[in-house]
Amino acid sequence: MRFIALEKAHRLVDGYRSVVSVEGRNLLLFQQDNQIHIIDNSCPHAGAKLDKATIENGVLRCPWHGICFDVQTGNGLVHDMQLIKFPVCHQGADIGILLD
Ligand code: FES
Repeated sequence: MRFIALEKAHRLVDGYRSVVSVEGRNLLLFQQDNQIHIIDNSCPHAGAKLDKATIENGVLRCPWHGICFDVQTGNGLVHDMQLIKFPVCHQGADIGILLD
């Protein structure tokens, strides 16, 4: 497994959002309620970019059709859909992901 650094850990604060391109995939790195999340920046419904989503009280709401997801689990609150989430890895001063 290879560690891919996405951001310096000290830059992450609540409200932080960044879209990062990793090997052809657009990822959204964000912090909410002191927790860091990394998700695919594409809504599983119809592909809206999720960096424009509202995120409040642990719920991410897609900007296109309003489907809501639990940011912890990635599960749709009403619809049977799921965000693609990636484990958050820490290495030294960096936050990133592990890839094969
Ligand atoms: S594209 Fe996200 S709810 Fe439709």
